[in-house]
Amino acid sequence: MSGLFISFEGTEGGGKSTQVALLADRLRKLGHRPRTLREPGGTSIGEEIRHLLKHSEANHLMMPEAELLLMNASRAQLVREVIQPALTAGEIILCDRFYDSTTAYQGHGRQLDLELVRSVIEFAVGPVRPHLTLLLSVPTQVSEERRLARQASGTAGLRDRFEEADRTFFERVEYGFQQIAEAEPGRVKLVDATQSIEAVHDEIWRHVAVHLSPNCD
Ligand code: TMP
Repeated sequence: MSGLFISFEGTEGGGKSTQVALLADRLRKLGHRPRTLREPGGTSIGEEIRHLLKHSEANHLMMPEAELLLMNASRAQLVREVIQPALTAGEIILCDRFYDSTTAYQGHGRQLDLELVRSVIEFAVGPVRPHLTLLLSVPTQVSEERRLARQASGTAGLRDRFEEADRTFFERVEYGFQQIAEAEPGRVKLVDATQSIEAVHDEIWRHVAVHLSPNCD
């Protein structure tokens, strides 16, 4: 028996967490028991790594190479502690970000060698791949406006090291995601996240419905 693994990707401000929650609700109403996860994080070890990567004062001096390895340390733990066993048990997993974020952020954004990034990811995930990836796309300017609005309204909470990067960084990240979508159109579905929340959800649902089978928990 094998489950269904769906990842959500995209730059900041695309509404990923809202869409993960909406999809989980809809699946629950149909009698499924989806498991929602996030990266970096999703395990006790991963959540500590997340804090270090995003919020810790100690991260001011973090080098791109250390960032790449920490992202994948969190991922290696999540895959073995949670994702692999859950898939074996036939569960549905909804993950807010997975390895495409590493290609986009550490590869394209931080400009680390893409082949090296790929080999680190492969070491971290082993044979595990998402069956479906929903790439929520918003223009860089919209993403920036949403990010700044969140910071201004105080809903951003703790300082976030990633949100301190400049516009050219996010443009490279967005370009990276577009490249990934073009390279793997079977797995990666581009969703226009400038639409209303309901319209985005409906589009996501159409992609997910194709993958649902009575085998999934
Ligand atoms: P988020 O959970 O609020 O999206 O924050 C996670 C941040 O970490 C986000 O800025 C993207 C970044 N990130 C990477 O740079 N590489 C990765 O592999 C992952 C999973 C996230």
